[in-house]
Amino acid sequence: AERTYIMLKPDGVDRGLIGEILARFEKRGFKLIAAKLALPSKEHLEKHYADLKDKPFFPGMIKYMQSGPVFCMVFEGLDAVKTGRAMLGATNPLASQPGTIRGDYALAVGRNICHGSDSVENAEKEIALWFPDGTLQYRLSQEAMIYE
Ligand code: GTP
Ligand code: MG
Repeated sequence: AERTYIMLKPDGVDRGLIGEILARFEKRGFKLIAAKLALPSKEHLEKHYADLKDKPFFPGMIKYMQSGPVFCMVFEGLDAVKTGRAMLGATNPLASQPGTIRGDYALAVGRNICHGSDSVENAEKEIALWFPDGTLQYRLSQEAMIYE
């Protein structure tokens, strides 16, 4: 089954949204297969956002990502990467539809509360970076109701 890496950023954690965001993925039918609170190092965050290292906002973004704990999650399920991105909404919250996570809880592109993997390949890289010990394998009884 497909896996995606979802992470509440420090603003999301500070604003008390861990439960709210986790619940959205649970209720959608995704299975939580790893989770933890973390204070990542600058080096770790630079690996996570390596593809953005030449952007002008990069230093400020890394600083913001180190301003408090992040809440790291891996969810498994049908089309998890694409669906996770759709649930987050556009990168700029002002362009995010109401009903999406960013469209409901954020205003500024540099404070958009939540990260989601943008491809299956990047999801697997991010899961390996944030959860080097791997994720859990288990069955939920509701899977028979969620999948046809
Ligand atoms: P993530 O899920 O966090 O990876 O966001 P994304 O995939 O929607 O966007 P992208 O990977 O291109 O950018 C990563 C993060 O950098 C965004 O979520 C923003 O917080 C920040 N960012 C992107 N573009 C801008 C910008 O123009 N200005 C500022 N200040 N931050 C930006
Ligand atoms: Mg991204």
